[in-house]
Amino acid sequence: MNKNLDISHEESLRQKRIMDKLSKQIKGKGLKYYVSTFGCQMNAHDSEKLKGILEQIGYVPTEEEKDADFVIYNTCCVRENAELKVYGRLGSLKNNKKHKPGMLIALCGCMMQQDTVINEIKRAYKHVDILFGTHNLYKLAELIQTRLDTGRMVIDIWENYKEIVEDLPSIRKFKFKSSVNVMFGCNNFCTYCIVPYVRGRERSRKPEDIINEITDLVDDGVKEITLLGQNVNSYGKSLDKPLTFAKLIQEIEKIEGLERIRFMTSHPKDLSDELIEVIKTSKKLCDHIHLPFQSGSTSVLKKMNRRYTKDSYLELVSKIKEARPDVALTTDIIVGFPGETEQDFLDTLDVVKKVEFDNAFTFLYSIRTGTPAATMENQVPENVAKERFNRLLEVLNEIVYKKSKEKVGNTYDVLVEQINRQDDHLVSGRLGSNHLVHLKGNKDLIGKIVPVKIIESKGYYLIGEQIN
Ligand code: SAH
Ligand code: SF4
Ligand code: F3S
Repeated sequence: MNKNLDISHEESLRQKRIMDKLSKQIKGKGLKYYVSTFGCQMNAHDSEKLKGILEQIGYVPTEEEKDADFVIYNTCCVRENAELKVYGRLGSLKNNKKHKPGMLIALCGCMMQQDTVINEIKRAYKHVDILFGTHNLYKLAELIQTRLDTGRMVIDIWENYKEIVEDLPSIRKFKFKSSVNVMFGCNNFCTYCIVPYVRGRERSRKPEDIINEITDLVDDGVKEITLLGQNVNSYGKSLDKPLTFAKLIQEIEKIEGLERIRFMTSHPKDLSDELIEVIKTSKKLCDHIHLPFQSGSTSVLKKMNRRYTKDSYLELVSKIKEARPDVALTTDIIVGFPGETEQDFLDTLDVVKKVEFDNAFTFLYSIRTGTPAATMENQVPENVAKERFNRLLEVLNEIVYKKSKEKVGNTYDVLVEQINRQDDHLVSGRLGSNHLVHLKGNKDLIGKIVPVKIIESKGYYLIGEQIN
């Protein structure tokens, strides 16, 4: 048997024993937990694992942070804003704790992988009880045990970790859909990005572990899965028996009862012809690809270390559209990368206009200490970046509205997710393209995939009616 597997299996059994022991202390007391997620889908999925562990040891969920006996912030550091939010919220938690002396506060996630952050918490936020990072969240029960035993702040941050601990509990947000990690970490080192430093090197999960997890999820009512990784297109390269992402999807597609497959994120430099063929022929892959391009300028892309050009990106998009003309494309764009000129920015607008994205996440460049771009010359002044950002939004809005209008009159399969938040006569769901749609209906529709005719476009969402 593989040695790594042995270690991770041992570790997962050890954690289960600790959870059992701890539950004798905690279960039945009505102690409440509150988990707050600050980051991406990867972090949100990690939070589901944290919830799984907390419920296993006997905490019950609450929607109100102020009522919680255990508060955990799963942090993000991809941009400065994300970090500032955490510090702000931590300040107000201090007051809650004054009124609830037994309360425990834990911090974990990407932000904790930075020494400067740990030092700042130790210095100015002494009311925090447990600090851990991205590599050891499976140890939450053990860390709580240590905190209860010692009464001291527990800090456990690992630089990196090769093993993947499988088979721990998890509480998912929706009964009928779930995210599934296919890989962890990132090896790309885009020069603006902190993720490779805080998430470690690329590690792929074994295909059999992924398939087993999805099979169990489907047995438990899941119809749609999203395969998660920072760069899913390089899945499998680090495995003992390498397997491509395209092959993995084909294996997953065989799982009976599974109806929809999504994945994110795709790095354009690694999106293979083999995957495009699967995108073309797959019956279960949704007609949506998230393909961040970051900048339309080839010289900025070079400084970003993205390893593709404006032309090769556009070529890739044409190939995908040819293979699957109905595909919806979404993207991430950074404005104001160091050295970005007006001409560079016009190239970004040009790509947006040529591709006609269905949606996009747009970001102002944020300096991340420790990354190569942080010390590059010609940082773009904030007012210039903001002005470009607003122009980008204007162009994008027009395109998003246009693309969404094209849906009107057509009928699509919609996975109904929930009762509409504003109007309880309506339900909300998603098309395969990931467009949000609202339609008349009640809770019986939740979790079902139904044909919906789109009758109106409101830009960032659609109005539809169920077809019988
Ligand atoms: N692995 C994914 C992205 C993860 S981070 C990929 O490569 O596509 C999500 C997005 O945050 C990135 O796509 C990028 O657009 C943005 N981002 C990352 N670092 C940033 C920074 N320093 N400033 C502004 N935006 C940033
Ligand atoms: Fe960051 Fe680039 Fe890795 Fe994405 S691929 S996580 S942007 S370094
Ligand atoms: Fe995600 Fe933020 Fe970490 S974007 S990987 S939670 S730094």
